[in-house]
Amino acid sequence: MNTLRSAEWYEGADRNAYIHRAWMRRGLPDDALDSTKPQIAIANTASDLTPCNMHLNEVAESVKQGIWAAGGVPYNLPVVSLGETQVKPTAMLWRNMAAMAMEEMFRANPIDGLVLLGGCDKTIPALLMAAASVNLPAVVVPGGPMLTGHFRGEALGCGTDVWRLSEEVRAGTITNGQFMESEQATIRSKGHCNTMGTASTMAVVAEALGMTIPGFAGTPAPDARLLSLSHDTGRLIVDMVAHGRRPSDIMTRDSFLNAIVAVAAVGGSTNSVVHLLAIAGRLGIDLTLDDFDAAGAGVPVMANLQPSGAFLMDDLYRAGGVLALLSQVKDLLHPEPITVTGRPLVDYLVDQPVYDATVILPRDAPLMEDAGIAVLRGNLAPRGAIVKPAAATPALLQHVGPALVFDSIEDMRARIDDPDLDVTADSVLVLRGCGPRGYPGMPEVGNMPLPRKLLEAGVRDMVRISDARMSGTAYGTVILHVAPEAAAGGPLAFVRTGDVITVDLANRSLSMNVSDEELASRSQSAASEAAYATPARGWAKLYVDHVMQADTGADLDFLVGASGDKVSRESH
Ligand code: FES
Repeated sequence: MNTLRSAEWYEGADRNAYIHRAWMRRGLPDDALDSTKPQIAIANTASDLTPCNMHLNEVAESVKQGIWAAGGVPYNLPVVSLGETQVKPTAMLWRNMAAMAMEEMFRANPIDGLVLLGGCDKTIPALLMAAASVNLPAVVVPGGPMLTGHFRGEALGCGTDVWRLSEEVRAGTITNGQFMESEQATIRSKGHCNTMGTASTMAVVAEALGMTIPGFAGTPAPDARLLSLSHDTGRLIVDMVAHGRRPSDIMTRDSFLNAIVAVAAVGGSTNSVVHLLAIAGRLGIDLTLDDFDAAGAGVPVMANLQPSGAFLMDDLYRAGGVLALLSQVKDLLHPEPITVTGRPLVDYLVDQPVYDATVILPRDAPLMEDAGIAVLRGNLAPRGAIVKPAAATPALLQHVGPALVFDSIEDMRARIDDPDLDVTADSVLVLRGCGPRGYPGMPEVGNMPLPRKLLEAGVRDMVRISDARMSGTAYGTVILHVAPEAAAGGPLAFVRTGDVITVDLANRSLSMNVSDEELASRSQSAASEAAYATPARGWAKLYVDHVMQADTGADLDFLVGASGDKVSRESH
C-alpha cells in the first residue's frame, strides 16, 4: 500500500501527532490510527430538511460496516445538503457553495478516501465536483429512488404528475380538491423522485462515469439490496485507497462521453448538462455543449419512464436496471474508461437480460429515435441553448411564431392567466432574468405554465424559451439555458414582444428576425444589467460576482480546476 495521506496527521512521536491521535481515539481500537489503516470519510448528505436523503444515515451504517470489514476506519462526515423542494430561492444557487464547502472539508481532514452519499438533485453533482477537485479515491453511493405511489388506482410520478395535475386544475378538468387529495399518495417511501428526473439522471451519470459500483444506480431506496451494495462500497473504498485509484483515473473525457450516451438512452434530465460541464471543469477536461449534441446524437431513448414515457424507477429496476439498458447501447460506449472497481464499465454490460421490454424498450423500437440533448444556436443564443426533444412536441421543434416576452418570473405569474393576454398557440413564450446571475441561481422555471385561456381551449404545449433551467421531471417544448443570459447582456435581454422567433431543430438553430444593427441599437438604449438584483453580501454576492454562464456549467470561475489533497501547514 502507498503511504497513507492520514499518516501526515497521525504518524510520529511529536506533539502534533499526539494531539491528532489523542482527540480522535475516544474508544477506537488501539490500532485504528496506525499508518496501515485507511481513514475513510463518509460524506453524508443526510438531513431531515432534505427529505429525499433522510435515510442516508442508515445507509452510512452499512457503508461503515463494510469499511471496518475491509480493514479501514470509517467516519461520518455530515456535509452541506440541499433539499430540492425546500430551499429558496433555488437549490442551484447553493450547489457551488455545497461543492466548495465539501472540497475544503475533504482537504482539511485526515482522510485517505471518500464514500459520497447523495440522492436529491444537487447532492451527487456537488459531491462529484468536490471529489474531483480534491482527487482523493472516491466512490458514490446513490441513495435510490422512492417506490411508486398510487392515487385512485393510477401510478403517480412525483414531480411529473404534480406538474400535470396542477395544469389540469388550471384547465378545469379536475378540481383543486382532487389535486390536494393526491398529496398524501405522491411520496410513498424514502428515496428521491421516482421519475427519470434529475436525481435519477445523476445516479445514472455517476454510474456511467464509473463512480459507483456497476449496477448500483437505480436501486430503490427501500430495497434491501441498497444496504448490501452500500456495505460492498465500504469494502471497495478501502481497496481503492490501497490501489491509489482516484477520480482522475476514472472520470476521463471518454467516460464523460459515455455519461452523455447514458443520459440520452434513459431520456435523462437537461440539468445533467450543467452538472457534467461543472464536474469536467474541476478535472480540467475539455467538455463542451457540442459534445452533448454529438455524443448523444443517434442514441435512442429506450427507458419508457416519466417524464418522457410511462413507467417509474422501480419499474426500471424490476425490468433489469440501468446495466440492462446500457447493454443495448454498449457499442456506442467507449470501452476503455474504468470504474471504481478498476474494470471497465463495458465489462459489466454482458449477460444483462431485460425482463420487461415494455419498460426497457428494444433499441429497434425505442420511445424516441435520436433523442439526446440538442444544442441550438443563433442570434438569440450565440453561446447556445438546449432542448430535450424526448420531452417535446415534435411539430413544435420546427416552429415560427411571435414572441411574448416576460421580464421576470413575477411578471410572468402576474400576466399569464390574464384573459386579455394577446397570445395564441403559435406564440413563443420568452422568459428572461432567470439565468445564473439574473435570478440569481438559475431556477427551474423554464417550463412556464401555459396561459389559462389556451389551456381551456385544449392547448397542452407551446414553445417556451428562457435562460432558466427546467425540473428534470418536467416536459414540453422548452428551450433552456440560453447563453449568454439576459443579465449578462445576452441578446435575450433585447427580444421584444412581437419579434418573430424561429426554432429549427433540424438545423440546430434558434433565431429572431432582428438584424444585428437593430440588436446593437436596442442594446445601447437598454440598461439590461442594471435591471437585475445585485446582492450586497454573503454567498449570493460571491455567487453573482463569479458565476459562469450555463454553457460552461455555471460553476464559480475560481472553483474551476483542482486544489488537490495536499495541505502544507499545521494548526498548532
Ligand atoms: Fe429530491 Fe426530486 S425533490 S429528487
